[in-house]
Amino acid sequence: MIKKIGILTGGESSERKISLKSYIAIEKACNELGYTTKRIIIDGNAQKIIPELIGVDYVFIALHGGKGENGVIQGLLDSLNILYNGSGVLASSLGMEKSLMKQLVRSYGIQTPDWKVITDINDGKNYIPNEFPIVVKPSADGSTMGLSFVRKQSEIADAVELADKYNGDIMIENYIEGRELTVTIIGQQVLPIVEIIPKHKFYDYECKYEKGMSEYICPAELSKELTNKIKNIALNIFNILQCGGYARADFILDKNNNPWFLEINTLPGMTATSLVPKSAMAASISFNNLVQMIINESLKK
Ligand SMILES: Nc1ncnc2c1ncn2[C@@H]1O[C@H](COP(=O)(O)OP(=O)(O)O)[C@@H](O)[C@H]1O
Ligand SMILES: [Mg+2]
Repeated sequence: MIKKIGILTGGESSERKISLKSYIAIEKACNELGYTTKRIIIDGNAQKIIPELIGVDYVFIALHGGKGENGVIQGLLDSLNILYNGSGVLASSLGMEKSLMKQLVRSYGIQTPDWKVITDINDGKNYIPNEFPIVVKPSADGSTMGLSFVRKQSEIADAVELADKYNGDIMIENYIEGRELTVTIIGQQVLPIVEIIPKHKFYDYECKYEKGMSEYICPAELSKELTNKIKNIALNIFNILQCGGYARADFILDKNNNPWFLEINTLPGMTATSLVPKSAMAASISFNNLVQMIINESLKK
């Protein structure tokens, strides 16, 4: 029986601030659900958390991005035999590497925008795409950090230089114009689809985290058939990547109603206003119930 939950927060990724907010919401929910909680802040050396885990029965990882989401912390907890929320090492690592996860899901016939990986920054700066616009992004970062929309050749060098400052290789991806959708999976249940209407061209950092910078529609206004089709694709991706517990997949729906998979987030934001709780709410799942469901899922591991 779980009595004491250690909640990991902080971290050094670009999403540290969001992690601190997720922590507040998760702590409140855990306490209301009757669990005792302990806040464990990660700064730098993750090994330092080991002594803090004594007496903790379960860890809720409220980290986003970096070592918290890419399998490193998951591996540490596995080696200590401590249960935690969400995906294990393999899916966490894959979910943090856009190029590899795209490659894998494409091999199962799932549609994802064409892309190219650039390992040498000079090759990237001189890269001549077949068409414009394109998107340049780092393969292993989040929160739309280091991502650029590139309309013409003269904009490529700056975009490549920016993406290079973030984690992973540089990815050059076809731009898909369309509606932005995100799909939450918990267990094998797919929650109502959220449509995001950002104020900017992209769902960027500001649109993601600043109040009023995006409009959210949940359930998204899509036909029943299309809704089911997208939900099935999302669940399929979740299973192909061997995700565990819960995750959130991002898509662009083009004007012909074709969904294009962008990425899956294995530790999606859990602030009170994040997308996963929004989607849960549309399925009449309160934030507290959502947290309980996430914990229950990890007990099935
Ligand atoms: N190929 C693309 N076509 C159109 N929009 C894109 C594309 N790639 C990214 N975007 C926009 O940028 C946002 C962030 O991209 P995403 O690949 O999901 O990375 P992140 O991990 O930073 O969320 C998306 O939510 C979308 O608004
Ligand atoms: Mg995304």
